Amino acid sequence: MTIKERIDQLRTDLHRHNYNYYVLNTPEISDKEFDDMMRELQDLEKEHPEYQDENSPTMRVGSDLNKNFTQVTHKYPMLSLGNTYSENEVTDFYDRVKKALNEDFEICCELKYDGTSISLTYENGKLVRAVTRGDGEKGDDVTDNVKTIRTIPLVLHGNNYPEHFEIRGEILMPWEVFEELNREKEAREEPLFANPRNAASGTLKLQNSAIVASRKLDAYLYYLLGEELPCDGHYENLQTAAGWGFKISEHTKKTHSLEEVFEYIRYWDTERKNLPVATDGIVLKVNSMRQQKSLGFTAKSPRWAIAYKFQAERALTRLNRVTYQVGRTGAITPVANLDPVQLSGTIVKRASLHNADIIEGLDLHIGDMVYVEKGGEIIPKITGVDKDARGMLIGEKVKFITHCPECGSKLVRYEGEAAHYCPNETACPPQIKGKIEHFISRKAMNIDGLGPETVDTFYRLGLIKDTADLYQLTAEDIKNLDRMGEKSAENIIKGIKASKEVPFERVLFALGIRFVGETVAKKIAKSFNNIEELENADLEKLTSIDEIGEKIAQSILIYFSSPLNVNLIERLKSAGLQLYRKEEDLNEYTDKLAGQSIVISGVFTHHSRDEYKDLIEKNGGKNVGSISTKTSFILAGENMGPSKLEKAHKLGIKIISEDEFLTLIS
Ligand code: IVH
Repeated sequence: MTIKERIDQLRTDLHRHNYNYYVLNTPEISDKEFDDMMRELQDLEKEHPEYQDENSPTMRVGSDLNKNFTQVTHKYPMLSLGNTYSENEVTDFYDRVKKALNEDFEICCELKYDGTSISLTYENGKLVRAVTRGDGEKGDDVTDNVKTIRTIPLVLHGNNYPEHFEIRGEILMPWEVFEELNREKEAREEPLFANPRNAASGTLKLQNSAIVASRKLDAYLYYLLGEELPCDGHYENLQTAAGWGFKISEHTKKTHSLEEVFEYIRYWDTERKNLPVATDGIVLKVNSMRQQKSLGFTAKSPRWAIAYKFQAERALTRLNRVTYQVGRTGAITPVANLDPVQLSGTIVKRASLHNADIIEGLDLHIGDMVYVEKGGEIIPKITGVDKDARGMLIGEKVKFITHCPECGSKLVRYEGEAAHYCPNETACPPQIKGKIEHFISRKAMNIDGLGPETVDTFYRLGLIKDTADLYQLTAEDIKNLDRMGEKSAENIIKGIKASKEVPFERVLFALGIRFVGETVAKKIAKSFNNIEELENADLEKLTSIDEIGEKIAQSILIYFSSPLNVNLIERLKSAGLQLYRKEEDLNEYTDKLAGQSIVISGVFTHHSRDEYKDLIEKNGGKNVGSISTKTSFILAGENMGPSKLEKAHKLGIKIISEDEFLTLIS
């Protein structure tokens, strides 16, 4: 057997085993055998790049190359469906169709999957493109990410598929995967995904397809489009597509009467709780494509289909107590602690109560039986109280706390804001930890090896009380801590030491002065030689700087009016941080792009997008998101989106390549 033949055989076998495992749930070989074959193929492909194939099973592993998404115009616009919430409206839809068609018709009933929609294009049996819905007209090309989804075939089975077609469906994150992902995020103190839909669409837009591959997304396809489809029936087309290797819901059903439609709706209203993925309704579609055509579309949606949305689920449970969480900014969130109750596939023990006004509005008492709803969000909320259930023994009325549960400071409420705040910015533990986490983050001091969990441990053990304490740590201090060891300890200390080289502008950003983000920090670094000059600047001096208004200036003044902050800066200075601008830093600044608004678009080879943004700002220009008549020029890499290109031509805006740009600022 030649190498090429072996590669082809491995590819064919791996595609088949992938389908058996992920779509049919009936693997024929062990995971180990599968992995061994995949590894053999990967090795062969590496040794023989001449046999590279965009649809090889190895493409499912993803790559950690960063890229920006190109916008693609949909061949057929991706419309949405009209929504209904009541059985009466379903009857109206049915009657409308009946009247308009004036002949027998079938309705295909389907589950409405609650994920993110995708359009897949296949040519000659191969997946060539996967595009998100976007605005319905244009979407993002997310092909590389979609290729990592195991239930989407890269190469079709058999040979009776049209040469060219699109198939649309929903990309989903199964409940189990979603909950696991959020557990991991919670452990790392990262913000959680609100629901599987957001998790799926967020994952699909990740730059790194290797991470996408690890997120175990799934996909159901529900709409076949093209000029030469196999059947007139939508249902029949989907069944045929199942034979080509697509995952088609087995819960799709053809019905012949309104009664059957209602039977389907009522059955799935409760049964959907046992599904592995989120659904938010039922979709009804006229089955015959000929009849679909005759019914046509309104401006926004087809007349031949409608979505029936399920009522938000609600559960009744007991309120045991109310606790209060302090966020990084000091904002206080009241949390209802409940008797555990099953709701939309998860067990709910806590729900947000938002703020004091909501608690007052509900007239909440401890021991109350309360209604919990999920709405569109995974963080449930209390929507009502069953006052009849109170009986004689009414519990204590819930009163919003007056002092911070973490540090005891008296809470404040700013005018016009619903939230209460703990004003003790400098000594309240969650606020301090939040500041340190910001300080070490990638765009600030970028300290390798340190994350929120380690910060928490160091803080709890009293090893650090603020950012300056980091620079006093030694490997000795930390090497015996849980899950640490000598090597990690040394790495952390190395990372901290290396951060002393971080330039002035990023140190300024790392300080976490309110409203001083990355861009403002750069402006400040350009205008002041060192931190002392900034410390001594007055309102007039500050507001004279481009893009610094009164709000930012006031915030800087408030920051330096605190002796604690001034002392912290002294200690950071003695630790050796760059609290001054180096001569060479200044060399990076020019006015070559002064007054210019520049749009960045496409994929670049010499620098990342972030680096180009930085270069623009350092040369006095402004990086803006969208093209308008005010745009000076577009810095374009490869694959600039067609819509941007069209707009640029229309407005007569110059397009400059990466190399031209670098020459311009050199
Ligand atoms: S059909 C022209 N079928 O719901 C009709 N959509 O508002 C094309 N969805 O954007 C859509 N399950 O993301 C269809 N079985 C299903 C669906 C479904 C979920 C989503 C889809 C679409 C939205 C419609």
